[in-house]
Amino acid sequence: MEVVIQPSTAAAVELVARIIAREIHANPRAVLGLATGRTMESVYARLVSLQRNDGLDFSACRTFNLDEYVGLPGSDKHSYRHYMNVHFFNRVNIELGNTHLPDGAVSDLDAECDKYERLIEQNGGIDLQLLGIGHSGHIGFNEPLSAFESRTRVVALAPATIRQNAALFGDEDKVPRRAITMGVGTILDSRNCLLLATGKDKAEMIRQTIEGPRTNMISATALQLHKHCTIVLDKAAARSLTKIEYYNQAYESNAKWDWFRKLPAPVAHAKITA
Ligand code: GLP
Repeated sequence: MEVVIQPSTAAAVELVARIIAREIHANPRAVLGLATGRTMESVYARLVSLQRNDGLDFSACRTFNLDEYVGLPGSDKHSYRHYMNVHFFNRVNIELGNTHLPDGAVSDLDAECDKYERLIEQNGGIDLQLLGIGHSGHIGFNEPLSAFESRTRVVALAPATIRQNAALFGDEDKVPRRAITMGVGTILDSRNCLLLATGKDKAEMIRQTIEGPRTNMISATALQLHKHCTIVLDKAAARSLTKIEYYNQAYESNAKWDWFRKLPAPVAHAKITA
């Protein structure tokens, strides 16, 4: 696990967007694992501007999202399919047919989960999996009790998750109680993991994810087992860590990040409106 703390939220977002851009430059047919949530909105905004201004080309990319609510068709404005279309897919040159999310509106959910696993496999597996973290410590929607070997399946959402997402639905009662999510095992199979957390409300879960014991009560702790996992934080999300000096030293002394340090300081990027 590598922990990279950036001085501002904008810089953390910039680093994540640039890591994704480099993956695509190196491998235009990259299979990306994608995430939703408020944290990711600015990452997608940066990727949109990198396409417009730097010619980043998504035309051959394939994508698999982590999760989707059960019961919401893609046309529902609260579905993650809708989120992805609005924030990313409709704004870049990606082929919609190459973008995948589980379908939470089908009648046979178990068959849908198996199909999703097979589709990931048929596409050669995930090259780079983008992750956020929920207030319950979940990655994807892998709530407490998720086995580290779990695969794509239906899960019940934890109360902390329902509360976290209530604002988006207008009311806690309107938040679906179940979702389809890639399993922890599915996520661990990806070749690279990239988790972004910003803001002080993530600090405690980030401390447990990085420095706490591994436990299936906090699925993000499974990332300690991953061979190529980078965790990018702003200062607020990093503030409860006990070894910050060491993480900073490791980052500063690692020439692998020189390309990022050489970039001009990130401009504050308001949401793109066009
Ligand atoms: C949802 C998603 C997670 C994501 C989390 C973080 O619960 N299923 O994959 O990590 O939101 O949300 P936010 O970025 O809004 O804090």
